[in-house]
Amino acid sequence: MAEICYLNGEFLPLAEARVPVLDRGFIFGDGVYEVIPVYARTLFRLKEHLARLAYSLKSIRIANPHDDAAWRTLLRTLVERNPWDDQSVYLQVTRGVAPRSHEFPKSPVAATVLMIASPLKSPTAEQRARGVAVVTREDYRWRRCDIKSVSLLANCLLRQEAEDAGVAETLLIRDGWVTEASSCNVFLVKDGVIATPPKDNLILPGITYDLVLELARGAGMPADVRRVAATELASADEVWISSSTREVLPVTKIDGRAVGAGKPGPVYARVQQLFQDYKARAQRG
Ligand code: PDD
Repeated sequence: MAEICYLNGEFLPLAEARVPVLDRGFIFGDGVYEVIPVYARTLFRLKEHLARLAYSLKSIRIANPHDDAAWRTLLRTLVERNPWDDQSVYLQVTRGVAPRSHEFPKSPVAATVLMIASPLKSPTAEQRARGVAVVTREDYRWRRCDIKSVSLLANCLLRQEAEDAGVAETLLIRDGWVTEASSCNVFLVKDGVIATPPKDNLILPGITYDLVLELARGAGMPADVRRVAATELASADEVWISSSTREVLPVTKIDGRAVGAGKPGPVYARVQQLFQDYKARAQRG
C-alpha cells in the first residue's frame, strides 16, 4: 500500500507529490510545521498541536488556511488512508509560491499545505531501560525558538554533532543556561524535584513538555518551571528529554559522564508510567 500524503487539497501517493521550486518554504525556509503522534489511529493531543500551529502561523503572519474542524477532518482522513496504526504525522504550511524576494508577496498567494504520514518510531525498550547518551553544545539558534519554524538549519547542524559523537541528542546551552535539545525539551531532577526551563522565546513550547508537567503535578510530584543552569547538569540525579516522537526518555550520560547513578531514576519511572497510562486512556478515546 502506497504512502498517501495531502498536498493543497488533494490526497495522493507521496512519491507523486510535487511542489514548485519557487515555494518560499524551499527558497527561504519560510513556513511552520507540526509533528503529531498517532497511537492506534488516534491523533494524540490534537487540540494542543492545532493551537500551537495557529500560534506559529500568527507569529510569522500567515493566515491559517483552515479552521480546527477542517484540520481535524483532513488529518483524520490522512491517518485512515495510511496503513499503520501508530503514525507520525508531519504537517507543514509555507507562505506559498512567488518570485524570489525577501519581503512577503505583494499580491496574495495561497499557502502551501503539506501533510505526510509515516510509521511512528517509538523509543526502543532498550532506550527506556538504559537511557540515552547526549552531548552539550552552545545554543546558537535565533531568538524565536518558540515558533515551530521549518528553518531548522541550526537544529540540523547541532543534531549532527550528536550523530557524529554516536549519541542520541544535543542539549543546548545559551549563556550558561539549559534551553532545550535539538528536537526535544529537557527536564532535570534533583532531590526528588523536577525542574524544566520556562516557555519563553528561547525554547519550543513542547506539547509533551506540557503533558509531562500536567501528569507529574496531577500526581502530586513537585515540579518547578525555572531557569536551569548548565552547571546543574553535573549534579543532577536524573535528566530526561521529551518530544512527540521520543515521548519521555531518560538521559544517562552527558558528554561522556554518567548522570546520577548512570541509570534511569525512580522519578523517571513514575512519570513514564503516568505517560503510558495516559496514552492508553487516550487510545480508548
Ligand atoms: N520536534 N524542542 C524542539 C526544538 C523540537 O523540535 C521539538 C519537537 C520539541 C518537543 O516538542 P513536542 O513535545 O511538541 O514534540 C522541543 C519534533 C518532534 C520534530 O521536529 O520532529
